Amino acid sequence: MTSQDSLWSGQEALEYQPAPKRDGRLTLERLEKDLNPEQLAAVMHGEGPLLIVAGAGSGKTRVLTYRMARLISDGLSPSRILALTFTNKAAAEMRERTRAMAGYDGADAWISTFHSACLRILRRDAERLNYPKDFAVYDAQDQDRLIKLCMAELGIDDKLSPPRQMGAMISGFKSKLKGPNDA
Ligand SMILES: Nc1ncnc2c1ncn2[C@@H]1O[C@H](COP(=O)(O)OP(=O)(O)O)[C@@H](O)[C@H]1O
Ligand SMILES: [Mg+2]
Repeated sequence: MTSQDSLWSGQEALEYQPAPKRDGRLTLERLEKDLNPEQLAAVMHGEGPLLIVAGAGSGKTRVLTYRMARLISDGLSPSRILALTFTNKAAAEMRERTRAMAGYDGADAWISTFHSACLRILRRDAERLNYPKDFAVYDAQDQDRLIKLCMAELGIDDKLSPPRQMGAMISGFKSKLKGPNDA
């Protein structure tokens, strides 16, 4: 078992305490000084899911950044961390704060929005789905325009069936894994 595995498996993970670092960056003293008891418990949480419900400005992001820094400081590879947020602003803040805490360049950790993480996965593995890696992503406006063009080509009146409604139908078929032939 490697030291990385030990963070995630069995009793060892639950009893895990961060080793004092040579540069003193993330000692338990530092964590105890910077975090209140609830935050500390969350940062030290071992294996398994943990749900934190707390109000705005109460220190949730601090828990997440310290938790990532704590794991990295103990030797977990940053590439094994996935941190998802809703907005680019929150992702940038989290990336910056984790970088400042953990003292590493952050390039390997996945700290991003849902959208950019999913896009990164699709780009990486697009060829497995027989798509080129450099596929374009259409926003809602692009989609409307393309659907309008397709409808014109098929001679469908876009006054009777608005492109946006057509887009919603296509999305519905895709959610049911129905392709053009069985929709
Ligand atoms: N235990 C703490 N002691 C001192 N300052 C804290 C503590 N927890 C959070 N803060 C500070 O309070 C502010 C809000 O914390 P933040 O983690 O951004 O909250 P949230 O994500 O819940 O909105 C930040 O400036 C943060 O550094
Ligand atoms: Mg926050």
